[in-house]
Parts: sequence; C-alpha cells; structure tokens
Amino acid sequence: MKQTEEHSHLKEDRAPLEEEQAPLKELDQWDDFVATRYRQGKSEEEFRNYKADADPTVTEFYRQNHKYQTLDFVLKKKAEYCGLNRGKKSIWEMAEYLNTLVDDSDPDTDVTQIEHLLQTAEAIRKDGHPRWFILAGFLHDLGKVLCLYGEPQWAVVGDTFPVGCAYSDQVVFPEFFAANPDSDKSEYQTQYGIYEPNCGLDSVHLSFGHDEYIYRVTEKYLPEEAQCMLRYHSFYAAHRHGAYRQMMNEHDEAMFEWVRKFNPYDLYSKGRERPNTKEILPYYRELVSEFFPDKIDW
Ligand SMILES: [Fe+2]
Ligand SMILES: [Fe+2]
Repeated sequence: MKQTEEHSHLKEDRAPLEEEQAPLKELDQWDDFVATRYRQGKSEEEFRNYKADADPTVTEFYRQNHKYQTLDFVLKKKAEYCGLNRGKKSIWEMAEYLNTLVDDSDPDTDVTQIEHLLQTAEAIRKDGHPRWFILAGFLHDLGKVLCLYGEPQWAVVGDTFPVGCAYSDQVVFPEFFAANPDSDKSEYQTQYGIYEPNCGLDSVHLSFGHDEYIYRVTEKYLPEEAQCMLRYHSFYAAHRHGAYRQMMNEHDEAMFEWVRKFNPYDLYSKGRERPNTKEILPYYRELVSEFFPDKIDW
C-alpha cells in the first residue's frame, strides 16, 4: 500500500523519505514468507536457511522493521493508538475497511483480507474448538488497519520482538538489529534490559504492530486465552523458538499453549479452499454479537 500525502504528519516516525516506504507489494507477502518458513515437515536445517525463501522486498522490509522499531517508537505508538481514541465502529465496519487494503494482489488467486480471517476461523471451527477460539481466528488480523491509518509496513506486520533488552538471535534477520539506535544503548542490551526476571510479558514492550493494536481494541470482550492469541501471534521467537523465557512467568507459559494451538490455523489457512462467504456470514454475525456490542472504540 502506498503512503499518501494526507498521512504526512506521521512521517517523522517513518523511514526517511529517500527510502522506499512500502517495500512489500502487499502486506500478505510477509505472511506468505512466514508460512514458507514454517512449512509443515521442514527440517530444522531447512528452517535455518530461511533467507533463501526471502525475496529482496521481504529482506528490505525486515531491514526497516529491525532498524526503526526502537523502545521510544513503541512507546509513542502505544500512546497514539492504545488509548483507542479514533472513534467507534463495529467489528464489521472495520472488517469492510480492512478489505479496502487491496494492494497489487491478483484477485483471482489472492484471498481478500476478510477471506483470510474467515478461512482461519473456519479451520478452527471444523476442528470443534470453542466459540471464543473461532472468534479469535476471525479477529486476529483486523489490526492491519494500521496500514490504512498511514503507518508504514514495518510498524504493522513483521515478527514481533521485545524492545528495551538484548535481541535474541532467534528473531529472523538478527543482523539487522545492528542499525537500530537501541543497539548502542548499553542499558537496553543486557539479557533483562529495562525488565525484571520473569516479570511477565504483560510488562514487556514488544515491537509495535497489528497484534498489539487488535489486542487492545478487543481485550475487554474476550477470554484471556483469546487475548494472548491475538497479542502474541507474530511473536515467533517466543512461541516457536522458546526465546525470551527469562521474561515470561508461569502464567505466560500456560497461555502460550493456546498461542501455539492457534498458530497453525493462521499459517496454513491459505492453502485451504476459498470460504463461501455468503453461506457462513450469518454464523459469524451471530458469533460477533455474542461477544461484542454493536460499536466499540478503535
Ligand atoms: Fe497476523
Ligand atoms: Fe493471519
């Protein structure tokens, strides 16, 4: 998605203008890269060779993400968005809005944003999981509307990682952290950085993106397991590779069982058949109104 003039007030938080602001042709290119990285049956060695699967636009995307996601940036974006003062909208209005994010994708082969949400939710439903779990599937990527608010791609998608402490080499492309200004701040580069041992992830700041935003918007309406699925679904270094355990407490460990249960539905939903939106929509309307009032704060 190309950035427009009307969003130029945000530009001090972005990559300098001489850099390409949106290296990915579409946000889904990042999701596709992650799905390829964790393709079922891949050996550990094949996995470690993920750079071979990353095309130059994906690599450029991670370069920007790792360079610009500083602790200061994260705190600023949380202050800007997590107070939820962008007005009231229903879940459905936001889903329709997200669907306007069409980029340069091929309409014949690429599913729309709503279709990805429905595919994920339907796969969860078919496996007989509880209604809140199905709902989490339907909601999990709605935070990508940040892109429509004018945020650069590197502040919307990408694997998330804690800021304010040493970077784990379990985060993809760890070499790009060298360009992050926080790398020069020794107080942020110890194992715990600004955090206490086993303080719990709730007090740890992760790089900002669609996970944190949709978690904040929906938290008071969802059970805690669903909140964690939304908030940590892109935190692959932790839920796939066991990194950052030193910050987690026992409660996080228990919740991450659910994050891990959720992850395959997100990763592998794309290969599934296109959902029959018309047929299943009534089910989802009922499901959404079971948990949410008509309008919520965004
Ligand atoms: Fe996501
Ligand atoms: Fe997703």
